[in-house]
Amino acid sequence: MSPFPITRLRRLRATPALRDLVRETRVSVRDLIYPLFITEGANIRQEIGAMPGQFRWSVDTLPRIVEKIVAAKIPAVLLFGVLEPSSKDEIGSASWRDDGIVQQAIRAIKRIAPELVIITDVCLCEYTSHGHCGIVKDGRVVNDATLELLARQAVSHTRAGADIVAPSDMMDGRVAAIRAALDREGFTETPILAYAAKFASGFYGPFREAAASTPQFGDRRAYQMDPANAREALREIELDIEEGADLVMVKPALAYLDVIAKARARFDVPLVAYNVSGEYAMVKAAVANGWLDEQRIVLEILTAIKRAGADLIITYHALDVAKTMSQ
Ligand code: PBG
Repeated sequence: MSPFPITRLRRLRATPALRDLVRETRVSVRDLIYPLFITEGANIRQEIGAMPGQFRWSVDTLPRIVEKIVAAKIPAVLLFGVLEPSSKDEIGSASWRDDGIVQQAIRAIKRIAPELVIITDVCLCEYTSHGHCGIVKDGRVVNDATLELLARQAVSHTRAGADIVAPSDMMDGRVAAIRAALDREGFTETPILAYAAKFASGFYGPFREAAASTPQFGDRRAYQMDPANAREALREIELDIEEGADLVMVKPALAYLDVIAKARARFDVPLVAYNVSGEYAMVKAAVANGWLDEQRIVLEILTAIKRAGADLIITYHALDVAKTMSQ
């Protein structure tokens, strides 16, 4: 590149049309996945305290939000179940019931929006009385005994009509266990989106309020990843792909853009980033104080996640920004 005055990088920044022409990264509504919290009970649309604008929906009120999602041309949703304490037990058995809350929601959504891609979060923490993502024995979350239960849940979601199952528990070997169980039941065509590099993050705080899934003792550091480790994240992703993951995820997104970029450079499977609850809450809090311009920074955030290398972004901002972005 010849230096100034031959080269002037400002030439291509002079007008909106020129800037648009040379823009390297574009976020489309087609890249977005919208999370939904499904709660027991009827006639419920309950706002989540630390996530203004996000609600818990009962199955009967779901059509209201699903119609908005479809109208906004958002292509996919990610479902989470929220249970009353009385519905939980030590092993999370409510998670694989045919009439479980997520299973009911899947059927309801398929009736009104058959073309909407339904992804389900597969984990035990929303269903266990202790709030951990696996079975607890002697105060520890045990790995291998948990796999069978995750597989049961994934099969049950798929039987109800889920299009993609997404294990978020971080047990070793869960992708292989779920793949084998799905295949055994004849669901050879159901893809697995692995929460492959999921870090033990403080940014999940608001979600745990939303899903009532805070661990009753200890924390998740013995199964979720240490935020300090990027090389280990690549090993997690590599293993999940070897076990049969069709798509992989890095979570959270913003403090882990380097991990997204490294994963993009190394692997050719579709890469998903989760713009998590705490990232959303920070934006909403600053906007509520009048400190930031919401539309502008949300587009900047989503663009940065895509620029880092994500193909798809799970984000609570999806509905708010859909109207303002390219289709
Ligand atoms: C369940 C799960 C969590 C999130 C997604 N799936 C919480 C956790 O691991 O504690 C977090 C999502 C968010 O913060 O938006 N294991």
